[in-house]
Amino acid sequence: MVSVIERELYRINNKFTKYKMISSKELRKKYIQFFKEKGHQEIPSASLVPENDPTVLFTTAGMHPLVPYLLGEVHPEGKRLVNVQKCVRTGDIDDVGDSTHNTFFEMLGNWSLGDYFKDDSIRWSFEFLTDKKWLGIDPEKIKVTVFEGDDDAPRDEESIKIWQECFESLGTSTEVFDKEKKNNETSRIFPLPKDDNWWGPAGETGPCGPDTEIFIDLGKSVNFEKCPNGDDCKPGCHCGRYVEIWNNVFMEYNKNEKGEYIPLEKKNVDTGMGMERTLAILNGFDNIYDTDVLTPIVKEVENLIQNSQSEESDDGILSLSLQNDSEKIKSVKIIADHIRTSVFMISDGVVPSNLDRGYIVRRLLRRAIRHGNLLKLPNGFLSPLVETVIEIYQEFYPELENNKAIILDEIKKEEEKFGKTIKQGAKELSKCAFEKITGKYLFYIFSTFGFPLELSFEEIENVIIPELKLNPKKELENKEKIIQEFNEEFKKHQELSRTASAGKFKGGLADLSKETTRLHTAAHLLLESLRRVVGEHIFQKGSNITAERLRFDYSHGEKLTDEQKQKVEDLVNEQIQKNLPVEVEEMSLDDAKKIGAMGVFESKYGEKVKVYTIGNKDAEIFSREICGGPHVQNTSELGKFKIKKEQSSSAGVRRIKAILE
Ligand code: ALA
Repeated sequence: MVSVIERELYRINNKFTKYKMISSKELRKKYIQFFKEKGHQEIPSASLVPENDPTVLFTTAGMHPLVPYLLGEVHPEGKRLVNVQKCVRTGDIDDVGDSTHNTFFEMLGNWSLGDYFKDDSIRWSFEFLTDKKWLGIDPEKIKVTVFEGDDDAPRDEESIKIWQECFESLGTSTEVFDKEKKNNETSRIFPLPKDDNWWGPAGETGPCGPDTEIFIDLGKSVNFEKCPNGDDCKPGCHCGRYVEIWNNVFMEYNKNEKGEYIPLEKKNVDTGMGMERTLAILNGFDNIYDTDVLTPIVKEVENLIQNSQSEESDDGILSLSLQNDSEKIKSVKIIADHIRTSVFMISDGVVPSNLDRGYIVRRLLRRAIRHGNLLKLPNGFLSPLVETVIEIYQEFYPELENNKAIILDEIKKEEEKFGKTIKQGAKELSKCAFEKITGKYLFYIFSTFGFPLELSFEEIENVIIPELKLNPKKELENKEKIIQEFNEEFKKHQELSRTASAGKFKGGLADLSKETTRLHTAAHLLLESLRRVVGEHIFQKGSNITAERLRFDYSHGEKLTDEQKQKVEDLVNEQIQKNLPVEVEEMSLDDAKKIGAMGVFESKYGEKVKVYTIGNKDAEIFSREICGGPHVQNTSELGKFKIKKEQSSSAGVRRIKAILE
């Protein structure tokens, strides 16, 4: 492990030590305070699970929950907003374990909804970064990029001019980069193409525009020798010399389904500053795991390693693993990152499963468990880390403490399940070296030993191939084909298990499917009734239907009053009595959204979806949802709807149990 002394030595030798140490708490506070002084309202962090947005699985940026307002809806808190948003990005999951990648992070963001634009936005960013009252960064260390222009939008001359004025005001050079002149070392402002300086939309359509990104230049000596761009290194290069800390997006367009950029009536500003990176930079760390939002977790893992007896393992291949320190450090970081993300995800209602979000949290937990296992940590090592994560964040995210029991329970269940099979699975996988690796084989490893596909690949690539000194290219030459085959097996298996459960209910099967279908339609009536009686903030968070009852989770912070419950029940029964037709149509997700269909749990962008409409299309539509079905043909088939229970499910999520009599 990197010792405290080594860390301090790095800091002392690092150019940024002249900054005082700053904690995550101080950075959050300063950021919010600064923008409040500039007339912004602080809004809370939204859930990691986007409400009713099928284009992404998780909230990936502070702007995400604000999309309706960026497109023109009026925000109840006004036109200037600021917050700290919890975010998850799993695209780089395989890179976690190095010094900068993580799957969870906090984004400090400020927004103008049709209010101020480039001028204030840039000047305030500059003031916050350089003024001694705030962060006090030496302006000489700051470099910025702007949009260089193309067929869709012109070069951002306005931002260039504003930046020049800012830097001039502190007596700093303001040269603009020119490809021909190759003046990258002396330049301050770098016009770059769309790939670098254009942001959004989060899905394929939505608000977007040119951005200006703010970098800290760590100096020529940092990584310069191994920079792949050599003398052409400039902001945007990934060698590590330039660290992007803040991105100001000037949302001037809405990209439509045809790919056209339509100017927005009201222009917005959307900014995002990465908490961990900025903290690391300000404190002179070369590594986000040294910041106070991650160090306590890393230390706790190190403690656990020290406390665990280094038992001699008889697993053969396992005892050969992780001989060197850099591999151990990587495993520690993976565990620290993944447990932090999992705690936040479960707190927001995502539980481990084999589907979508649930599969992501399962992957994170099982990967953490596997790395703990490689470090010879005892089974159950994740639970003490849950406590550490909650301690770090509870002041800012009280939901973590409130949901502690659920979080601990879900993680324990996953540890127990996977803990039982992991060693055997790893052993079994090591045999793959002597057999042909196929999708079928990896599906067997998944269904029997619980190894998610990606974890099997990682095991083969990082543990088995190096240990057995095999040729990685040869062993995994058909990776794409293996994945495809695995997915086919997965589908087949789902069909088989459906047939198996059909067998189990022989005789009662017809009834069973009829019951669940009726409850399924009742769920649609229930959602719409909740929205009409209680409020439009209500979205479905999940549902579970058996032949006997419907369990329905929805976003709402409080217990329903008896009166509300009664009204909801009555409204559902009214629709049943009206004998409303239930009709299905297939269309693109876009069209479904256009006609105002609700729902969407498992639809991916661009897919064809089924839309179920309850009501008379020509007269009155009661509910419209994107849904796989099946449903009854007429609400008259439902009988009498009754709410049996209404209780809390997780933070901001309530649960209704209901039946049809
Ligand atoms: N939404 C912008 C980003 O995530 C600020 O970089």
